[in-house]
Amino acid sequence: MRRLCVIPGDGIGQEVVPVAVRVLERLLPDLQVTEAEAGWDCFQRLGQSVPEATLQAMRDCGAGLFGAVSSPSNAVAGYRSAILTLRQQLALGVNLRPVRSWPGLSDRSGVDLLILRENSEGLYVGKEHMATADLAIAECHISRQASEHIAQRASEIAKLRTSRRITLVHKANVLPLTCGLFRDSCRKVLDAHGLSALVDERLVDVAALQLVERPEEFDLIVTTNLFGDVLSDLASHWGGGLGLAPSLNWGQGIALAEPVHGSAPDIAGSGRANPLAAVLSAGLLLRYHWQLIEQADRLDRAVEGLLRSMGKADWGKHTTRRAEQELIARL
Ligand code: NAD
Ligand code: IPM
Ligand code: MN
Repeated sequence: MRRLCVIPGDGIGQEVVPVAVRVLERLLPDLQVTEAEAGWDCFQRLGQSVPEATLQAMRDCGAGLFGAVSSPSNAVAGYRSAILTLRQQLALGVNLRPVRSWPGLSDRSGVDLLILRENSEGLYVGKEHMATADLAIAECHISRQASEHIAQRASEIAKLRTSRRITLVHKANVLPLTCGLFRDSCRKVLDAHGLSALVDERLVDVAALQLVERPEEFDLIVTTNLFGDVLSDLASHWGGGLGLAPSLNWGQGIALAEPVHGSAPDIAGSGRANPLAAVLSAGLLLRYHWQLIEQADRLDRAVEGLLRSMGKADWGKHTTRRAEQELIARL
């Protein structure tokens, strides 16, 4: 029996997560679901964006599905984006973000890449301070341990893929200590797995250009936290945009699936949210965390069938409901 902690969060998280849960329940009839709360609305009610009960529910289940949360752009005392707290507290050290071109939808064919984004450190350690009234300082932490951990995951995944190219993306020309440590630690692990012949590196600026110019040449991209954040939104364009971009926050024996998009306040409540990013994120749980490959393939085939049958014009006022009906019919 599999257990799943469901954290819909704010805005369209409340609309897309239930669809992904019903899809998972179709594929895993004995799935046991526990609901938990997190986010801005939760913070306003309880004074915490991630209550301890939510962390405990995640630990108990070992797997979760997160929707999205809203965050104000200005600092609010005591508030930190719930997803950052979850990643940190649950030691979800790797963020897996695949992008593939879908028939009939993407304006490019042949894209099938996977970004592995370091998920715990870099500029995301949350250590900012005002040194003086005119100088703000943010710390960037890169550790050998976290870098080796992501490279270890990259090695395991590379062995499952057919094209097997690994691109380390960094900015070691400007940041030789932090980015240099990341690159060297990754290389060491990849070498130990006999993969050095497949490893290549790019500076992040040129990687961004090449992801626009010739995305089909990338296979596995391994990079630090902020670079992975930016490059994964950019690359998601080739997979049909944010409405179709899935991700998996992945630790040791625990994982939290999460669409890349946010709470989309501009369309929340309109019925127009695309649930496929959340559904595909659930598919990553099946494939990578639970290693239920047959079910993961069934889910991907159902999404592919839906995208083939529904033209762009069919996505509109009833997107969330129509997509669910079409998916369930295909499973
Ligand atoms: P967003 O991803 O919420 O929305 C960007 C644009 O994409 C909007 O026009 C939105 O309507 C559209 N969009 C996003 N997901 C969609 C879907 N499934 N179907 C159809 N259209 C979709 O990003 P934003 O507007 O920059 O941020 C809104 C809020 O979400 C902010 O408070 C931000 O902090 C938060 N956010 C949270 C997460 C997260 O929880 N992981 C990620 C990004 C942003
Ligand atoms: C993402 C989001 C988050 C991030 C935000 C909401 C904190 O953009 O998951 O990509 O920056 O990691
Ligand atoms: Mn992001």
